[in-house]
Amino acid sequence: MRVQIAPSVYASPLLRMGEAIAAAEAAGVDALHLDVMDGQFVPAISFGMLLVREIRAKTSLPLDVHLMVAKPGNFLDELSAIGVRGVTVHLEAFDGRQGGSNELGEALRTIRGAGMRAGIALKPGTPDKVLDGFEADIDDVLVMTVEPGASGQSFRWDQVEKIGRVSARARSLGIRVAVDGGINPETGEACVIAGADYLVVGSALFSGGLEGVGLAVSRMRGTDRT
Ligand code: DX5
Ligand code: ZN
Repeated sequence: MRVQIAPSVYASPLLRMGEAIAAAEAAGVDALHLDVMDGQFVPAISFGMLLVREIRAKTSLPLDVHLMVAKPGNFLDELSAIGVRGVTVHLEAFDGRQGGSNELGEALRTIRGAGMRAGIALKPGTPDKVLDGFEADIDDVLVMTVEPGASGQSFRWDQVEKIGRVSARARSLGIRVAVDGGINPETGEACVIAGADYLVVGSALFSGGLEGVGLAVSRMRGTDRT
């Protein structure tokens, strides 16, 4: 299967986001990755529903939302109304604070029930074993290869083994394996070899300016030619 490329819009020059999205779309990316951060689950605040809605109106690309928020359940209805394709919630957002894993299962079923793809994101320190019991409720796993909360961090090579283990169990279940954080042609290739289906790419697409997006996307496409 060809690897899918999804730009992290948060890593684009924010005041030129519309142009960045147009450049990515022209370069043939598969989807847009939208990082919603609330200043609680992670220290940073990125953007919220208003901007997701604006982006929906701006592009026909599928939108996959990565919720780095303390209360993911608060946003699911609105994301469904906006018309995003997928919503990925952090497993860690449910640990303890919201009553444990039943609430995670409920959130995943709400996402799917609204016709969206449901995903679980795992921080680097979270073992993949925690996925046990949730496989029936998910379409996507997002393996974080940096600590969530900022673009431009270095790829965590210690996560490659985890990607391999997650892919091995996801494959037969039809679950898509996405990776996010520090992805560039070199690290992306390692992820694809380990079994990733979907690469979220931030700085590596946008650090060369908007003129460089097309070339950067084609370099990322090279990651699945090995
Ligand atoms: C980090 C976000 C990422 C980030 C990726 O918390 O989830 O999507 O924007 O940016 P890079 O590719 O620069 O790590
Ligand atoms: Zn992300």
